[in-house]
Amino acid sequence: MLKTIHWLFIVGAALFIFGIGFVVVGAREARRVPVPAAAAPTTTPVATTKQIMSAIVAPAADAIFSAVSTTVSEKGIVEVAPQNDEEWAALGAKAAALAEAGNLIVIDGRAVDQGDWVTMSRAMIDAGRQTLKAVEAKSTESVLTAGEAVNTSCDNCHERYRRD
Ligand code: HEC
Repeated sequence: MLKTIHWLFIVGAALFIFGIGFVVVGAREARRVPVPAAAAPTTTPVATTKQIMSAIVAPAADAIFSAVSTTVSEKGIVEVAPQNDEEWAALGAKAAALAEAGNLIVIDGRAVDQGDWVTMSRAMIDAGRQTLKAVEAKSTESVLTAGEAVNTSCDNCHERYRRD
């Protein structure tokens, strides 16, 4: 009699533990909300690369190319350069926009590849930063040098990737 009770107790305990196990596993399953394999992208590309080129890159580059110049004619020498803090700041904003456009064309959905495209976009970013440094130093000479770097960064990529 005692033995029987003993066994019933063990079977009862086993069922109890088994039951708890079920509850725990069940709870875990319920908590398993579908998690995407990779983190969801935080950016949603809207513009095409062509639109970024014509709306951001080209105007920014034009502002840099035309910011400093010396024209010699029979009328005399005409020097063009930013004249005050606001004009320097405006040029700095163009340089910053050019650099950021480089970030825009390397994001997922726009990057053509992870090799030359990224390298050439970085070259444009670096040229934009170089211009920004020249602006911070208010050095017209450095703006000219940076402008050459900007121009080279455009040409290199167009030669490799532009098909029109
Ligand atoms: C990383 C590569 C890359 C760099 C750097 C780059 N471009 Fe482009 N650009 C392209 C490609 C590719 C196209 C052609 C896009 C198309 O037609 O779909 C293009 C097209 C253009 C266009 C034509 C846009 C139109 O509406 O047809 C202009 C203008 C332009 N780029 C200016 C520039 C200037 C200025 C720079 C340098 C400051 C520059 N790009 C740097 C890749 C680049």
